[in-house]
Amino acid sequence: MSTATDERGLLAEADRRALSYFDGIATRPVFPSQEAIARLDAFNGPVPEQGVAAHEVLRRLDEIGSPATVASNGPRYFGFVIGATLPAAAAAERMVLAWDQCASSFDNSPVADKLERIAGRWVKELLGLPPNSAVGFGTSATACTLACLSAARRALLARKGWNFDEDGLAGAPLVRVVISATCHITVKKALRILGFGTKQLIVAPTDPQGRVDPRQLPELDDMCILCLQAGEVNTGEFDPFAELIPQAKAADAWVHIDGAFGLWARASSSAHLAAGVELADSWTTDGHKWLNTPYDGAMAICRDATALAGAMNSDAVYATASRDAQKNLNLEFSRRARGIPIWAALSTLGRDGLREMIDRHIRQAGHLAARLREAGFQVLNRAVLNQVLVRADSDEQTLAIRLAAQNSGQVWFGPTVWQDRPAFRLSISSWRTTDADIERLIELLIELKRQTTR
Ligand SMILES: Cc1ncc(COP(=O)(O)O)c(C=O)c1O
Repeated sequence: MSTATDERGLLAEADRRALSYFDGIATRPVFPSQEAIARLDAFNGPVPEQGVAAHEVLRRLDEIGSPATVASNGPRYFGFVIGATLPAAAAAERMVLAWDQCASSFDNSPVADKLERIAGRWVKELLGLPPNSAVGFGTSATACTLACLSAARRALLARKGWNFDEDGLAGAPLVRVVISATCHITVKKALRILGFGTKQLIVAPTDPQGRVDPRQLPELDDMCILCLQAGEVNTGEFDPFAELIPQAKAADAWVHIDGAFGLWARASSSAHLAAGVELADSWTTDGHKWLNTPYDGAMAICRDATALAGAMNSDAVYATASRDAQKNLNLEFSRRARGIPIWAALSTLGRDGLREMIDRHIRQAGHLAARLREAGFQVLNRAVLNQVLVRADSDEQTLAIRLAAQNSGQVWFGPTVWQDRPAFRLSISSWRTTDADIERLIELLIELKRQTTR
């Protein structure tokens, strides 16, 4: 085992190795080679009977592990909606690791309590959400959606005089859930965990861009939760909130918004895309996607602060805290101070810097879509946000181009299925992505199309 005297040397060594990794981030293969992946087998082995020196642990982690990383922290990773990490957020994360705070409550960490309150206030202001909403910092949009939807159901049941905490669900009044036909899988997962079977979900039809069609919105009432989305995962489109939410509110339904990445459009010059989203009752969004903060930092935001605090309360005789302490606003009882890198990112970007970053990605996506169309690709979405959904001349060619692009090591992006046919999805979310990186992506795709055209 390492001694305390080793600690400084070890951390300095970790920093040296991390910096060397950063130095190569723009030039390393975006997806690791087969050889690098095969070398991971060197980690296989029995539980060590005697521990090895921490320096040796670190050396193995770096020398075997680093080559097998995906360069999602680099400039040409276009998969999923994975942002990189802004330097200020990465640096703040390092401080937080040194502090090793349990960010559950003021008693456990006054600094985390303070900074997460400030980060929450800033996020609400930047996204134009109601200022008195509760903000719980959690691990993911998935977990935060679970928190919001459990608060929603509990609040709807309370309207009928049903005490969910004491009486549970057996015999409870029926709560119906309406989801978009293009609802993200993690919202369905949260609903499944909460006991809403997929057969019970009512599906709202969507238009060809994946937006809920207001004319076909299923009937709602005061025992309904309507799940809408800001940023459909393939097209990046927004449900027409300004039409839908007033309809839902007139019926007294609860409206939840999955804004894992798209809600950040509210901080950009394209805020109009999400007009009316502020009328909802709850929202989830991630820091680790478009805000470019480290994994795993997300937010559950709830207009009725007492609804979230009631559903998530975890006070115990030995661990009491204020109603709005973080452990009483989300799933985790103990966790890192996920709001601090979010605070650091917002501090360093400021309102202007955030707008500039989101605007740049939207502009780059529009340019990419236009150039790919010119080059004969089918661009299946309007590319109004940071997502570009693409097909080549045939399904076979679409597949061949994606695999060749992935194997090139120059870029990485993933597959999807849109309207029952394969496509690929290019997502621009990294603060490191320059216009030159976009040109390189375009040239590569054009060249691969040429090579695969018979
Ligand atoms: C639209 C949307 N909702 C929800 C999620 C889930 O987010 P998380 O991975 O933070 O749970 C994602 C992405 O993964 C997403 O793109």
